[in-house]
Amino acid sequence: MATKDTHGRLEELRKLNAEAEAGGGAERREREHKQGKLSARERIDVLLDEGSFEELDKFVRHHSHDFGMETQRPPGDGFITGYGRIDGRLVYVFAQDFTVFGGSLSEANASKITKIMDLAMRAGAPVIGLNDSGGARIQEGVMSLAGYADIFLRNTLASGVIPQISAIMGPCAGGAVYSPAITDFIFMTRDTSYMFVTGPDVIKTVTHEGVTKQELGGAMTHNEKSGVAHFVSRDDAECLAMIRELFSYLPSNNLDDPPRVASSDPWDRAHPALNALVPEDPQKPYDIKIVIHAIADAAEFFEVHEHFAKNIVVGFARLDGNPVGIVANQPAFLAGVLDISASVKAARFVRFCDAFNIPLITFEDVPGFLPGTQQEFGGIIKHGAKLLFAFAEATVPKITVITRKAYGGAYCVMASKHIRTDINYAWPTAEIAVMGPEGAVNIVYRREIDRAPEADRDKIRREKIDDFRERFANPYVAAERGYIDAIIEPAQTRAKLIIALRSLENKRDTNPRKKHGNIPL
Ligand code: HXC
Repeated sequence: MATKDTHGRLEELRKLNAEAEAGGGAERREREHKQGKLSARERIDVLLDEGSFEELDKFVRHHSHDFGMETQRPPGDGFITGYGRIDGRLVYVFAQDFTVFGGSLSEANASKITKIMDLAMRAGAPVIGLNDSGGARIQEGVMSLAGYADIFLRNTLASGVIPQISAIMGPCAGGAVYSPAITDFIFMTRDTSYMFVTGPDVIKTVTHEGVTKQELGGAMTHNEKSGVAHFVSRDDAECLAMIRELFSYLPSNNLDDPPRVASSDPWDRAHPALNALVPEDPQKPYDIKIVIHAIADAAEFFEVHEHFAKNIVVGFARLDGNPVGIVANQPAFLAGVLDISASVKAARFVRFCDAFNIPLITFEDVPGFLPGTQQEFGGIIKHGAKLLFAFAEATVPKITVITRKAYGGAYCVMASKHIRTDINYAWPTAEIAVMGPEGAVNIVYRREIDRAPEADRDKIRREKIDDFRERFANPYVAAERGYIDAIIEPAQTRAKLIIALRSLENKRDTNPRKKHGNIPL
């Protein structure tokens, strides 16, 4: 039975609530729906557990008096902020409503965002931002820019303390892109989102290039080419479901452990097909994702950056119910070579896992760093060093499995024993050497081969290669030194990883006290 509204106060509250919920009105909302987009409120409802959203600052209004803005002061000002639950776990959320001044950022709604960011930091809960905005509110000038800078500062201070997730579900342009860029993961919707610092019109004027918004900053551009975005979805609903799935692997903050789930997959399940996976011919590729699926609980792998630098694979899986981060060279793409993009992709993932207590499992089959002027001029030295730095500074449990090639500097970089990896396994097919047998023989025996009669050269070269392969291209030299802890049957990899992880459950390791390291940026 409705309570009697003696003073008309409830009616006033309900009216204000309805006004705030109407956003920019039915017509504008319909325009959004026609493009296949959900409204900001619908997005929050789909993202969070049903009925869990608690809105804050619903009646905040902007304070602008220029350009006739004083006559348009909708409650909420176009941003929806608050907190709710995903699978029962607390998260803070903001969603920009494009129907209100194009979702543009005013001084007032910047304060709404910084308020929930401050609350999230105190509560130790993640922040998820659903971006759909024309950028700085033009009518507010520098106040709006100040609002962005206030957000950037909090993004930076929160980095490594709470997970921060951004979804780009409409426009995201100008300096506004830098808040998502500082966060941990960026999702984009396939046909309805774009991100760029300067748009097609400015580009046309400055560089005379003709490019569309989608070509310049669409979801596939950032997922495939720039690597700015980590995930692409068909539409809003899929994007929000993917965020929920990602969140299931993450702890709420840097002091929490990642959430354990009950696993019905036997921990010691063998996978005999792995024993025959690596081809006899070392030049032949195979798909490392077969290994990842084979060892993961229920074969589930949540891949990050799937479309970018495919020569390295990164993502989340569970082993006996515990989340792990997986980094794996992909011999099926560019032979799994490490180049600039692969190094940067993996380095960022390793640092995320380390910041949030997620153990790292590394699968290694890498012929080395990619040679060439493009790579050298592009700074492969400093970019490769990022990956080395990231693995070396990581103090979470680290386990490596060398499946085949571990050549040269890449051997050191890919979580080798020497940079504090806890357990290093190798399959019997592992080849651990300074370089491949062909390259090694061409250098070490060049004079000897050149001096031989021409008719004998090929035979000598082949003999030397076979000899080199037998002596060095195996895991036993490294095992003799203790650089490899155990040579395991591929079929047993899952069980071996889980046993090792259990032994590292209470691992404690620290880095020297310092303000921060100086990762080669
Ligand atoms: C105020 C804005 C706005 C903005 C859009 N609107 N952007 N209002 N400030 N930044 C309003 C429009 O006036 C319009 O109002 C409504 O939102 C929808 O916009 P449309 O242009 O009709 O939509 P659409 O055709 O879909 O184009 C979307 C758009 C375009 C591409 C985003 O609106 C646009 O170019 N906006 C400006 C983008 C921009 O340059 N922003 C500043 C970036 S610099 P009505 O009332 O007609 O519905 C920046 C600096 C950040 O952000 C600095 C951080 C360091």
